[in-house]
Amino acid sequence: MSRRPIIAGNWKMHNNREESKKLVCAIKDSISTIDKDALPEVVVAPVFTSLDVVSESICNCGCERIKLAAQNCFYEPKGAFTGEISIDMIKDFNAKFIIIGHSERRQIFGESDEMINKKALAIIESGLTPIICCGETLEQRELGVTDSHIASQIVKALDGVKPDDVANVVIAYEPIWAIGTGKTCDSVEANRVIKGIRSTLAQIAGNENAQKVRILYGGSVKPETIKEQMAQSDIDGALVGGASLKADSFVEIIKGAM
Ligand code: 13P
Repeated sequence: MSRRPIIAGNWKMHNNREESKKLVCAIKDSISTIDKDALPEVVVAPVFTSLDVVSESICNCGCERIKLAAQNCFYEPKGAFTGEISIDMIKDFNAKFIIIGHSERRQIFGESDEMINKKALAIIESGLTPIICCGETLEQRELGVTDSHIASQIVKALDGVKPDDVANVVIAYEPIWAIGTGKTCDSVEANRVIKGIRSTLAQIAGNENAQKVRILYGGSVKPETIKEQMAQSDIDGALVGGASLKADSFVEIIKGAM
């Protein structure tokens, strides 16, 4: 089964509008001459307030090479939800993906598995693709509960999703202790956990659908680590934080994934 790799940059709460535009244009300039069928699916996730400038820059520069993601959404279509943004509002900017369940949202903003499930269902219903994050803390790893914790996050996030729709979601395995720490998870170990995610997906949606799901690794991905990560059987790309904030390092990661 060949799965098209994804290299996604999660810009987190960085880059104002001008900086966002500069960064996406620099990425586009560096990959504009690469045959687009050879490229992984390249995705950038700016802050909400930069979605319009990044969307315009992508369109002006040739949509096929870079796709837009939002970093979060709310699952209700409209209403009295101060500070939230709906999926349709994100669709206005031609976004294709929405990241949900990032550990920063879970830990800092108290998002529960139930909320993440509601978001997943609403995103799928809208025709966009959720990038569903999961991952264990260092404490959970040391207690030996990594695999059961991740399986539980996946089962809960996908509760009620139709098997055929499961095939189209994207999962990002991001061990929390590897995020922003410079400590990358060993590639063989990341692949082992990701294989476990795929077998959980097979239990939920059947093996054929599970084989189609793209599962990314995230956590201190760097230009120096991507080749070994991509060489693993089940790692289908990367969700990149810090190293996606500089065009040079992000483009090196894109090229490393080719
Ligand atoms: P870093 O690449 O900075 O470790 O961040 C990973 C991440 O959280 C991406 O969503």
